[in-house]
Amino acid sequence: MCGIVAYIGPKDATPFLLEGLARLEYRGYDSAGVAVTGRTGGLKVRKVKGRVADLAAVVPARFKGTTGIGHTRWATHGVPSDANAHPHLDGAMGVPPAEGGGRIAVVHNGIIENADELRAKLAADGAVFRSETDTEVLAHLIAAHAAEGAELEDAVRAALGKVVGTYGIAVVDAEQPDRIVVARNGSPIVLGIGEKEMFAASDVSALVRYTRQVVHLEDGELATVRADGFRTFTEDARTTHRQPSTVDWEIDSYDTGGYEHYLLKEIHEQPGSVERTLSGRLDERFATAHLGGLNLDARELREIRRVKILGCGSAYYAGEMGAQLIEELARIPAHSEPASEFRYRNPVIEADTLYVAVSQSGETYDTLAAVQEIKRKGGRVLGVVNTVGSAIARECDGGIYLHAGPEISVASTKAFTSTVVAFALLALHFGRIHDLSPADGRRIVAGLKALPGQIREILDQSEAIAELAAGYADSEGMMFIGRVRGYPVAREGAQKLKEISYVHAEAYPASELKHGPLALISPELPTVALVPDDELLDKNLTTLGEIKARSGRVVAIAHRRPEAKLADHCILVPKSEPELDPLLLNIPLQLLAYHAAVALKRDVDKPRNLAKSVTVE
Ligand code: AGP
Repeated sequence: MCGIVAYIGPKDATPFLLEGLARLEYRGYDSAGVAVTGRTGGLKVRKVKGRVADLAAVVPARFKGTTGIGHTRWATHGVPSDANAHPHLDGAMGVPPAEGGGRIAVVHNGIIENADELRAKLAADGAVFRSETDTEVLAHLIAAHAAEGAELEDAVRAALGKVVGTYGIAVVDAEQPDRIVVARNGSPIVLGIGEKEMFAASDVSALVRYTRQVVHLEDGELATVRADGFRTFTEDARTTHRQPSTVDWEIDSYDTGGYEHYLLKEIHEQPGSVERTLSGRLDERFATAHLGGLNLDARELREIRRVKILGCGSAYYAGEMGAQLIEELARIPAHSEPASEFRYRNPVIEADTLYVAVSQSGETYDTLAAVQEIKRKGGRVLGVVNTVGSAIARECDGGIYLHAGPEISVASTKAFTSTVVAFALLALHFGRIHDLSPADGRRIVAGLKALPGQIREILDQSEAIAELAAGYADSEGMMFIGRVRGYPVAREGAQKLKEISYVHAEAYPASELKHGPLALISPELPTVALVPDDELLDKNLTTLGEIKARSGRVVAIAHRRPEAKLADHCILVPKSEPELDPLLLNIPLQLLAYHAAVALKRDVDKPRNLAKSVTVE
């Protein structure tokens, strides 16, 4: 999704802007641009359709300024093109303001819903539009107020007062080059505090090389950022007082660390990320989990009659695994639903239901909107979130941070696994407040403690899985099947394969195969089958027989190798407790998708058309 960077200080802004944009590439984008200004006045702007490297190639050595903004755009209004790339100006590029050139430059993440209406009014007043974007409207609105002599912050406030929609913006004015004004409403903006210099960005990953001291703006908040500090205020000009926080993720978390791709690095980080999710949360004495951030005591938890989990994409599938864990361990009805659907169906909110929002980024707009809808109706929401201080984390009444570390690759792997581990902790905590016996509690505690070592055992098979993946990568599609606990694993496995390899993949409950999709089975459509050694093993083996009888090829992910006549290939996975098995069964599917994508020479970390966090509707 779109990214914003901004710099003001004694140095040349351009190197930071280009490096910051490169750090945000992982979010997904189709064009990029920068604008700088400084004491010598005037705006210098370059923007291109394509990569940050393409932008860097057209930025000349003389492109200098001490105040600057940059942007990576993911097209919403208008096709990806040079003209639609940000920054947007109120006048022509490369022309002095007095001759019709722009003085205001704006970069924007989000969507201005009333852009068409505003555009018509501005055009009637003589504004000339040079792009199809909603953002250009903002540049003209701000310029109209600035032309009347307003301070930049007042011009921005006045312009935002006319706008309906979501935004994270950064604005520079060639005639007030001593400041950048930023604002947030539904799309993140974080300030970075340096030594006599200041930064801003839509994501801390652009800032961590320069500063660890950050301030996350709240929705409805603006900031004037100068080289020597910042002032935050509300849309009605009331000053707010924000204390900086320290980013604790390591700088090398943002590098590939010698791996060919971030995705492979993040898959291999899982033993450590799971350890961090568990760290300090297991209580062996009472065979339970401690989750300090829930902000719910045992009595309040006992009053909960239902759990509803909300998330999008892989977060929703992790929620499905979470719902099964809660039902199994706590015997409380639990269900996961896509947040993107929930928010549009006027949901019934119940006082005795616990709502849980799941999000790696903490910025997914559909999930945030679902949380806001629940809270508006008086519901109680917990967040299971990776990014500390993110919008969803701040909107929730309490929750569990994953501590998985930054996830850069668009496809979620380590955050997915840590989310399911967090749900296992929640289910254990809930269970032990209800009727889960101490013996079963101890069994789950031991199972959780063993996970990092067992994940390592699976990762050791990476090379063998690469060979297997190469043999299946040119299939016309793949079927993923699993029963009960295995079904969400199948769904996540299919999601991973399709998003990074572009191979069509379908997930079905194994029990449903004969009710329709069996018609698809042929040697061209191999099946990946989850075959854990649990109470449903015989049923799963029968399904494998049905597939083989139709000449289907089978890759079994299993605890024990099925008979050769039932599976062409098998990836063996160490056995955990039955409730925790899905966590481990999923790891080979991550490697399978990764190696298939590599075999097909895909852009593994930045798959086409996708963005890391979807901050628009
Ligand atoms: C995961 O591989 C996907 N890229 C995607 O489905 C993702 O999980 C979804 O967009 C939700 O993101 P979030 O966890 O940041 O809210």
